[in-house]
Amino acid sequence: MKETIYSYEDLLNMLDHLLEEERQFNWNDFYSDRGRKVPFFRNLPDENLVSYFESEKLKPGRVLEFGCGPGRNAIYLSKIGFTVDAVDQSAEGLRWGKDRANKQNVQVNFIESNIFDLSLEENAYDLVYDSGCFHHIPPHRRMNYIELVFRALKPGGHFALTCFVEGGELGGASMSDWDVYRERSMRGGLGFTEKKLRETFNGLEAMEIRKMIEKTPDQGVFGTSALMAALFRKK
Ligand SMILES: C[S@@+](CC[C@H](N)C(=O)[O-])C[C@H]1O[C@@H](n2cnc3c(N)ncnc32)[C@H](O)[C@@H]1O
Repeated sequence: MKETIYSYEDLLNMLDHLLEEERQFNWNDFYSDRGRKVPFFRNLPDENLVSYFESEKLKPGRVLEFGCGPGRNAIYLSKIGFTVDAVDQSAEGLRWGKDRANKQNVQVNFIESNIFDLSLEENAYDLVYDSGCFHHIPPHRRMNYIELVFRALKPGGHFALTCFVEGGELGGASMSDWDVYRERSMRGGLGFTEKKLRETFNGLEAMEIRKMIEKTPDQGVFGTSALMAALFRKK
């Protein structure tokens, strides 16, 4: 019988199966109507990402993006001189990303994969970026996520992310990790505080943790105070 736990991976798969809602959410359907009024559907880079470069906290190099979706940040990173590997599990999101990149004549290596199934180049990246993927990672996969970031980064490399503010306007469940399994739900995405981010990524040096700055589309960047923005460095 298949429902026997022989390995750590079997245990993780069993916990994945407990979280029905998350498993059933279909990102391909979500991206199938490109005209929907979803804030991050606009092809604008994150304000924090732009600020890291404009203030020279980061310099172009090799970047790996987790959960790139339709590629707005990957495209920006390529335009400012990065070599970009951008991963997402959604074929539909990546199709949209490729259309955007082709239209703007921009090079991005889009990779269709679950981030946990990647065959990763180790110590290879100057930057790992994640905008909105991490808060959908269930708690039992978080340690694997942190390990992925560590393995991917060169020493001295940076990790930056945006994720839901706890109890924020766009989502960001304020619940304990244990409650996720009691309720069998992440209520659409977990919320984070500065403290929780610091503790989660305590193996990295925290450079800046703040809320994203609210922006309007005419400012040419995406920003909402419903998201946290954090920049870390691998020692
Ligand atoms: C909120 S969307 C953000 C998309 C994009 N980063 C943006 O800001 O425009 C989250 C993305 O993470 C992707 N994702 C979630 N879990 C993933 C996983 N385990 N592996 C790969 N992609 C994942 C989803 O397919 C989705 O495209």
